[in-house]
Amino acid sequence: SQRLRMLKRQMECRSDIHRLIAPLLAIYELLIPPEEERAKQNQLLALLEKLVCKEWPKAGLYLYGSCANSFGVSKSDIDVCLAFNEDINNKSEILLKLADILRSDNLQNVQALTRARVPLVKLMDPVTGISCDICINNILAVVNTKLLKDYAKIDARLRQLAFIVKHWAKSRGVNETYQGTLSSYAYVLMCIHFLQQRRPAILPCLQGMETTYSVTVDDVECAYFDQVEKLRDFGSSNKETVAQLVWAFFNYWAYGHDYANSVISVRTGRIISKREKDWTRRIGNDRHLICIEDPFETSHDLGRVVDKFSIRVLREEFERAADILQYDPNPCVTLFEPY
Ligand code: GTP
Ligand code: MG
Repeated sequence: SQRLRMLKRQMECRSDIHRLIAPLLAIYELLIPPEEERAKQNQLLALLEKLVCKEWPKAGLYLYGSCANSFGVSKSDIDVCLAFNEDINNKSEILLKLADILRSDNLQNVQALTRARVPLVKLMDPVTGISCDICINNILAVVNTKLLKDYAKIDARLRQLAFIVKHWAKSRGVNETYQGTLSSYAYVLMCIHFLQQRRPAILPCLQGMETTYSVTVDDVECAYFDQVEKLRDFGSSNKETVAQLVWAFFNYWAYGHDYANSVISVRTGRIISKREKDWTRRIGNDRHLICIEDPFETSHDLGRVVDKFSIRVLREEFERAADILQYDPNPCVTLFEPY
């Protein structure tokens, strides 16, 4: 099977790949949230700000995740961070208080999940129909949201590729961290890394450039070049289309990636070795079967959720996608078929 892999790896892209450009872009367009969704999100955020401010005048509310990183598809939930200017030792107490406040303002399905990995309050706003998670002091997530958003401004192909990959992952059931597959955040990092690696490169490595933005959060220094308007032409010498990139992305994860030794690293803009990170063996629950370094919390492997069963599921799905893109007469339908 190793030989088969090698043979397949040398596989050349189907000659009619350009016929996939229009249908893939049509799917992308359909996934983009309409303007009125943004207005509803802001309406809900304004309500939450009003309620929070009454109780905690010095706290701030920030959007993070897909509603703010420009990789959100239509009808996503929104992620909100309630930020205090100090360390909070007892998050449970605050979350329970917050849940009371929200309930008394008629927000629906309010639940405080104080024992979750990231403790939070869930709610649904009956006026806008939007569901929302609120967590406390998750400032690193707010900062990595900005990083993703800044990358998206550099080349339109990132957003196209990531929307299609996320749509594929959701359709195929491999976007479920509690079942050992990957988060949306991890998939977007895989797309950024992939575009940094194309030759000519389509994306730069912002953390490898001059620092124009810098914050220190939880002792982690987050620094990178954020004047991305100056990088609008960065990828222009690479003429690859969304169809070629989607094909090559799945081909890379199916047949090109060295799972045994490699870590993908958006922070450095290249592949680094598992040895270098000491991610060669299982430590606790971290098995490091697919390694995706968090750009700021560098000790954090976003592939840590993947176990020996789900790695097979994931790799079979990458191979299925690569094979469909190569051979299927109607790939834009088959690729997204529910599992
Ligand atoms: P969808 O909700 O699936 O559309 O995507 P999303 O971008 O909101 O992704 P997700 O719900 O997986 O994560 C929300 C945000 O939390 C991400 O955008 C990150 O900012 C942050 N996040 C998620 N997982 C991690 C993690 O393991 N480490 C860190 N540092 N941040 C994470
Ligand atoms: Mg989300």
